[in-house]
Amino acid sequence: MATIISGKALAAEVKSRVARDVEELRSQGVTPCLTVILVGDDPASRVYVNGKEKDCIECGIASRVLRLPAETTQDELLAHVRACNEDASVHGLLVQLPLPAHIDERAVIEAIAPEKDVDGFTPVNVGRLVIGEKCFAPCTPAGCMEMLRAAGVELTGKRAVVIGRSNIVGKPMALLLTAANTTVTVCHSRTKDLAAVCREADVLVAAIGRPRFVTADMVKPGAVVIDVGINRLETGKLCGDVDFDAVSEIASAITPVPGGVGLMTRAMLLVNTIEAARRTLA
Ligand code: GUN
Repeated sequence: MATIISGKALAAEVKSRVARDVEELRSQGVTPCLTVILVGDDPASRVYVNGKEKDCIECGIASRVLRLPAETTQDELLAHVRACNEDASVHGLLVQLPLPAHIDERAVIEAIAPEKDVDGFTPVNVGRLVIGEKCFAPCTPAGCMEMLRAAGVELTGKRAVVIGRSNIVGKPMALLLTAANTTVTVCHSRTKDLAAVCREADVLVAAIGRPRFVTADMVKPGAVVIDVGINRLETGKLCGDVDFDAVSEIASAITPVPGGVGLMTRAMLLVNTIEAARRTLA
């Protein structure tokens, strides 16, 4: 039976560390501030943004949420982004995705000042991640790495397989795992014989967005399985990309859904915000 890597316990630890860091920054005259821009009324985005706001308040980080109507034009949104770039009291800035269809997401992300880009989505931060420079790594893969570290998983020389090649999770996850000395394979919808590739993994990361896609026959006995998926079933229940019950019989360690990676994504946003605030002191 696999050890369960709890996002709940680890996120609580990270948040208490963040709260201490906030105190220290405040004593130096800096109150870390995260600004989130939300355009329109996508229900899931609203829930995510409320969660981010709550997390900030819990840790003593100043939270500002700019809620803009769905009709906001791209130029208006860009003007808000630039105003936040200029505002020295804002340390972290993110624009919640997805944006309404009439807005070019890339153009908006590229307008965010890299030193405030706590999502790690701007080309400058992506480029820095690729070449191994100090950067803001995207929160979900950074959270996965934190879970592997906390679980004491030795990575050097191991085989890692990432299922999913998104810009937000799959690609940066592969870069972070490479930096941690694993040998990484990235799989996607066109991968041939996916199950056989997955079975080679000592560390298997599922970021597909399909409920219980990873079944027990795709997992090597003793592998560590990180489940990034958050899928809502017709019953309303949340489940991951991994068939948890069957895979936890085979894996040596596994992250649950809910209570796994999602909580770490939220926690890492706070860590990046503190780092952005700290850099203004240097
Ligand atoms: N939408 C879903 N996840 C995210 C995220 O991590 N950052 C932003 N900006 N939007 C999202």
